[in-house]
Amino acid sequence: MPIISILPSSVADQIAAGEVVERPSSVVKELVENSVDAGATIIDIALEDGGRKSIRVSDDGSGMAAEDVPLALARHGTSKIRSASDLVGVATFGFRGEALPAIASVSQFEIETATEDGGGTRIRVSGGRAFPPEQIARQRGTTVTVAQLFYNLPARLKFLRSARSEWRGAVEAVTALALTQPSLRIHLSHDGRTALTLPPVSSVRSRLGAIWGGRYAEDLVDVDDVAGPIHTSGLVQRPSDVGTSTRRVFLSVNGRAVRDAGIGRAVEAAYRSTIVAGVRPSFFLDVTLSSDAVDVNVHPAKAEVRFRDRWTVERAVETAVRRALGTLDSAQSFGWRGSNFTFAPAASYEAPSTEILHGTAAPDAPLFTSSSPGADLQPTAAYAEVEAATRTPEIIPALFQLRRTYIAFEHEQGLVLIDQHSAHERVLYEQFIRTLESGSSTAQRLLLPLTLHLGPAEADAFESNREYLERLGFEIEGFGGHTLIVNTVPMPHPRFDAERCLRETLDSLTGDRVAGTAARHERLAATVACKAAIKGGEELSQSEMRSLFAALRDTTLPAHDVHGRSTIVHLTWDEVERRFGRR
Ligand SMILES: Nc1ncnc2c1ncn2[C@@H]1O[C@H](COP(=O)(O)OP(=O)(O)OP(=O)(O)O)[C@@H](O)[C@H]1O
Ligand SMILES: [Mg+2]
Repeated sequence: MPIISILPSSVADQIAAGEVVERPSSVVKELVENSVDAGATIIDIALEDGGRKSIRVSDDGSGMAAEDVPLALARHGTSKIRSASDLVGVATFGFRGEALPAIASVSQFEIETATEDGGGTRIRVSGGRAFPPEQIARQRGTTVTVAQLFYNLPARLKFLRSARSEWRGAVEAVTALALTQPSLRIHLSHDGRTALTLPPVSSVRSRLGAIWGGRYAEDLVDVDDVAGPIHTSGLVQRPSDVGTSTRRVFLSVNGRAVRDAGIGRAVEAAYRSTIVAGVRPSFFLDVTLSSDAVDVNVHPAKAEVRFRDRWTVERAVETAVRRALGTLDSAQSFGWRGSNFTFAPAASYEAPSTEILHGTAAPDAPLFTSSSPGADLQPTAAYAEVEAATRTPEIIPALFQLRRTYIAFEHEQGLVLIDQHSAHERVLYEQFIRTLESGSSTAQRLLLPLTLHLGPAEADAFESNREYLERLGFEIEGFGGHTLIVNTVPMPHPRFDAERCLRETLDSLTGDRVAGTAARHERLAATVACKAAIKGGEELSQSEMRSLFAALRDTTLPAHDVHGRSTIVHLTWDEVERRFGRR
């Protein structure tokens, strides 16, 4: 007698069920996806006791002919593919013919279905054993009822959570479907009470509005970007809103709701430097790419996909989101940047063609342009740059420094305050990122090289960041031990204290282990920018304020510093007038 035997199909179904059906929400997911595959326009979902007692999904889809129903309940019975080659680019949610038999093997299951012109059929299945089909009268469509899930698998039953928690999972599954299928009418109820009624709509934004309220949806930013064959679309949270409400994350790939940690990280990377550390953005995104670039058959519950070229997909998503954030910017609300540039300060003057104002200290080099790569800072170079900087045709309003910390100006819509440190930090950050990426640093040779003695931790931080620091313009000789000789430094502004900046930078990089070049660039640029930026409390000359203003205006995200805080505060005339009781 052989010791190997083939398992009866009922046992095989139960084993398959272990993978496909984990909890009530997985049943909901499989059933509603079948409904969509059947061309339904209306889906009604009713749960009792979080789905533990029963789950019923009804649709107005194609229905099934009597002869097909037993096949639908058989393992590998599917109408969606015929051969392995059909798997590539499969457009339906289902393709394996596993869901119905798996669910039916671990529950008290009933399916009622009818096609347009055929009669109706009902089949009941109890723990995988089917009763004979019955003829019934019903409208076109299908109703599946799954009662007593896992009644015959006590081990599984034990793992079900509270009704509340299972219900929440089911709501998530329905929400995911609602977002991929905005044109579907969906009704969801729990213990006889309506929980969600979603009318058909034409956009994801409207759908989000119907689920979480118009205000929530309005505050999201559109993403729509094509990078080669990859199209990223959807909505993401404004940086200023991140962390202020429940985090919601939704991703679909070619219309299929999936989880993907890599894409999640790519979205977060797009926010880097615009939100404070530790908070994560909400997003609702669909990534569409050619079907042979993605394998959908890699996860038992079809909750994940595999990309042929993951890196390119992640970069495309990151770029798409970053672009979307770049176009918005709270600064745009008062016409700072963007397509509808309407910068028209109330009290403005055209920048004179040449102007050199002298600050209190050393030669008043412009704050935000820098000398040519590696060159000594010569007066003529500085002169040329100031000239170039002030020749820009953009109108710069009259600027005032307040408390040696803020730059104030009047705008047609109100009063605007810029925090000089945060603003300069943003300018330097973007400049440093460009420098790190292009490798063309703008360094100034020091007349007297600096000598720095470091502790072991700082020396270690220096060694692991040396290459990047040099790219930034710090030309440093290390003498094996913990002594550094610094020959050149970047030149962010005339009062720049290179020694202090370098020390503080090394100090905050101590013990820092960042993986990946882009992340290192961002980390270092943000750290050096923070340490090198002009501080609050420093007096700025007119030309310094003007060049800071112009440089900030030219950044991609002027309204946020590198920690995600605001660089700009806007007080509208409306608000001012209300305060004075004029309105
Ligand atoms: N709501 C429905 N309306 C019409 N036909 C349905 C419905 N649900 C299932 N079917 C039919 O039953 C078949 C089996 O469904 P099942 O979910 O088991 O497999 P599948 O959807 O083909 O693949 P997968 O296991 O990947 O979901 C389907 O291929 C489809 O023809
Ligand atoms: Mg299916």
